Amino acid sequence: MNIKEKLFQTAKEASLNSFSPYSNFPVGAAILADDGNIYKGCNVENISYPVGICAESAAIAAMICDGGKKIIEMVIFAPSDKLISPCGACRQRIKEFADNQTIIHLADKNGIQKSFTIEELLPFSF
Ligand code: THU
Repeated sequence: MNIKEKLFQTAKEASLNSFSPYSNFPVGAAILADDGNIYKGCNVENISYPVGICAESAAIAAMICDGGKKIIEMVIFAPSDKLISPCGACRQRIKEFADNQTIIHLADKNGIQKSFTIEELLPFSF
């Protein structure tokens, strides 16, 4: 299995543990970090809606907590027909740990559909 496929499968697995009873929109994210490890996260919602966290945010926190420093490549997955796209706040979070080589893949239930750099997702960023 190549790394893109492995990241896709890991993001899909992560989405199965999503806590999303309010939106019914499970999301999973998987990161290949500079240390060679794969880190994953899912969205975790809350009855106080704005307190919920996105899958990307959870995956980044897992990476940092275990010693990863940079995102080499990542997959963001939702099992829907409409392709997922990271929110503005998560684009900024990804930016913090990305460089021009970092690739962000967006996936639906059929697999990876589009791939971007962070500059494409968040141009002229802080
Ligand atoms: N969500 C993510 O986890 N990542 C995204 O890229 C977009 C949206 C979550 C937030 C919320 O729990 C649910 O999906 C519906 O917006």
